[in-house]
Amino acid sequence: MSLLVLGIETSCDETSAAVLEAPRRLRSHVILSQDAHRVFGGVVPELAARTHLRTLDRVVATALEEARVRGSDLDLVAVTAGPGLVGALLVGVVWAKTAAWAWGKPVIGVHHMEAHLFATELEHPEAQPPFVALLVSGGHTMLLFVPRWGEYELLGQTRDDAAGEAFDKAAKLLGLGYPGGPEIERLAAQGDPTRVRLPRPLLHGPPEDRYDFSFSGLKTALRGKAQAAQARGAWETERPHLAAAFQAAVVDILVEKTCRAVADTGCRRVVLGGGVANSRALRTALRERLGDGELYAPSPRLSTDNAAMVARAGAFRFATLGESSGLDLVARADLPFPGLRRRAPVPA
Ligand code: KG4
Ligand code: ZN
Repeated sequence: MSLLVLGIETSCDETSAAVLEAPRRLRSHVILSQDAHRVFGGVVPELAARTHLRTLDRVVATALEEARVRGSDLDLVAVTAGPGLVGALLVGVVWAKTAAWAWGKPVIGVHHMEAHLFATELEHPEAQPPFVALLVSGGHTMLLFVPRWGEYELLGQTRDDAAGEAFDKAAKLLGLGYPGGPEIERLAAQGDPTRVRLPRPLLHGPPEDRYDFSFSGLKTALRGKAQAAQARGAWETERPHLAAAFQAAVVDILVEKTCRAVADTGCRRVVLGGGVANSRALRTALRERLGDGELYAPSPRLSTDNAAMVARAGAFRFATLGESSGLDLVARADLPFPGLRRRAPVPA
C-alpha cells in the first residue's frame, strides 16, 4: 500500500508544499520563491516569516488540488522543523500541526538537511547508501558517510561560512545580486580563473583539517583583490576573473575533500545535495575526478529548498523507522541532525 504524504517547507525563503505518493511518485509540487529579499541582498527573517504566513494556505491548497487529493486522503503530514529561521519554521510547523489535527492524521517533523539528502534519491533511485554525501547549502556545508538511511557519519563541516553563504557574500562584494551562486556562475563564464590567485583554506593542513571547511578567509582574500582592482581602475575588466577565481577556489576545496572521503571510505558513490549542488563547475569537476565512480546530483528544482524532499524524508522516518511527532512538535533553529555521529578520524 502506498503512503500519501503532504510535505511542507518554510525554513528560509521558499514557501513550498508537495504531495508525494511514497516512495517516489510526486503527485504535485509547488515552490514559491520570495523575490522580495533580492532588494535587501539577503534573506530578511521577519519578512520571510510574514510572507510564509500570507502564502502557505494557498500554496498547500494548490498542491492538494493539483494532486487531486483532499486532506482526509492523506496518510501523513511532514514538515521541516529545523534548522532554519525560527520565525519562518514556526509558520510551517504550526500550519502542519493544525492541519494534521483537523484531518486526524499523523504529523512528523523533518530535519532540513536530512531532507536535502533525500532530494537526490527522489529522481535517482540508484542513489542509495552506502554513499559519501556532500551537502552544500546557504546555511550548511557537511561531508558525510552514509552507511544506511538514518545513520550519518560526519566527516567534516564548515568552521565558519557555509559554501552557499560564501557565494552569496562574494557576489555582494562583486556587486552582484542575491542569491549569489548563480550570479557568480554567470559572471565566471566570461572570466579566466588563472588571472587571480586565491587561497585554498584548510586544504593542506594537519590531520584535524582533513575534512573540515573554512570559507571566510577566502572571502577576505577576494575583498583584498577586489579593492586592489578598483584602486587600479581595472574593476570592470577584473570582475569576471575575480568571480571565476572565487568559484574555482570553492570548487577545488569541495572536490578535493569529497575525493578524500571517497579514498578513505573506499565508497565510490557520491551524492550531492543543497543549493550549491546546482553549480555546473562543481558537478563537472567532481565527475572528472571521480572517473568511473558514481555521482548523483538533484535537478535544480530539487537542489534548492523544496517540500518534495521533506515529504520523502518524512515518509522514510514514518514508514521505515516507525516515528511520528506529537502535537508538541516545536520549530528549532538548531535542530540536531537525527542519527548523526562523528566518524572516527582516519590516520593521515
Ligand atoms: O539549499 P538552499 O536552497 O537553501 C538553504 O538551505 O540554505 O541553498 C541556497 C544556496 C544559496 O547560497 C545560493 O547562492 C546557492 O545555494 N546556489 C549556488 C548555485 N545555485 C544556488 N551556489 C553556487 N552555484 C550555483 N549555481
Ligand atoms: Zn536548504
